[in-house]
Amino acid sequence: MRSVAGAEPMNERSVTAEAGSNIAFVKYWGARDLERAIPANPSISMTLDACRSVCSATFRPSDGGAEGGAGADEVLLAEGDRLVDPGAAFTRRVLAQLDRLREWAGVRGAFRIATRNTFPAAAGIASSASGFAALTVAAVHALGREVSSSELSALARRSGSGSASRSVWGGFVEWPVGDEALCAAQPIADRDHWALCDLIAVVESGPKEVSSLDGHRRAATSPYFERRLERLPDKLERVRSAIRARDLAALGPVVEEEAIDLHLVAMSSRPPIFYWQPATLALLAVVRELRAAGVGAWATMDAGANVHVLCEPEDEPRVAERLEAEPAVERVLRDRVGGGPIWREGAEL
Ligand code: DP6
Repeated sequence: MRSVAGAEPMNERSVTAEAGSNIAFVKYWGARDLERAIPANPSISMTLDACRSVCSATFRPSDGGAEGGAGADEVLLAEGDRLVDPGAAFTRRVLAQLDRLREWAGVRGAFRIATRNTFPAAAGIASSASGFAALTVAAVHALGREVSSSELSALARRSGSGSASRSVWGGFVEWPVGDEALCAAQPIADRDHWALCDLIAVVESGPKEVSSLDGHRRAATSPYFERRLERLPDKLERVRSAIRARDLAALGPVVEEEAIDLHLVAMSSRPPIFYWQPATLALLAVVRELRAAGVGAWATMDAGANVHVLCEPEDEPRVAERLEAEPAVERVLRDRVGGGPIWREGAEL
């Protein structure tokens, strides 16, 4: 048997990790190198607390015989009390990430992976960022490796869910453009810096029609793609300084404008991508109405129709109540800034 660090031979090891999802203030949209997950632009996000993924990883080392190859991996998704097959697309992405991690660690053996999302599977909230961050943290520790958060971020990035690179940190996080190891997210401020809330108005609970991956592929076909990139350095600086100053009145307008820019690029790509539903526009009007009434509420949308509304904790009840009163809103998930991933020994799923 090959040993990991050249010393002790590896035994079977199980680890359970948790990571929060994140909401981007400046979005990752379009890639310089999609294969290696090098984005076209830096992005900034806030890690979430309630919307998180829990992943148990067990690694059984082998010399690579019939029992131990990649073909022996098992991937499961927890739904209620049951562990189910997560479907071919998700399983393929997980298996590819496990192959990368085995290669990175220079070991052979099989993984058993079981993942649970704390938010409703049908809520239309991207679970890939938290899912692949939790998977990467759990698998790396199941391989017996101790690595820095930057290295974890670079590894999570390669999962195909680039935004997972940001979920290896808590608080407010920036993912820069860079080559390989340098293309790893870094914290701007930790969760204790600012208790910002994110209320997620769910208006669409099915899977989105066009994946983010296809969105990244098509982004550069939009005549507005380059224009958005030109505007970004200024926006990034405004977002960083508003976070540092805990200034929602400065952050909100840039975040809302940036979300509209992203969707403008999506809608003008070839072929076009329309993530918005009529309810999305209705909610943008509700958010403007709240502001006209003196409430600091600002909207952003990822690659979907659901609307994330940022506000300070004292405004949360009023904003949530107003969003819940909209007929098209199925539910409002009340979230806020969360911490970085945690992990512990043992398989819990
Ligand atoms: C619009 O390639 O990270 O959410 O499949 O959702 O993990 P997932 O997509 P990914 O692209 C994220 C696109 C985005 C903006 C963002 O989160 O930066």
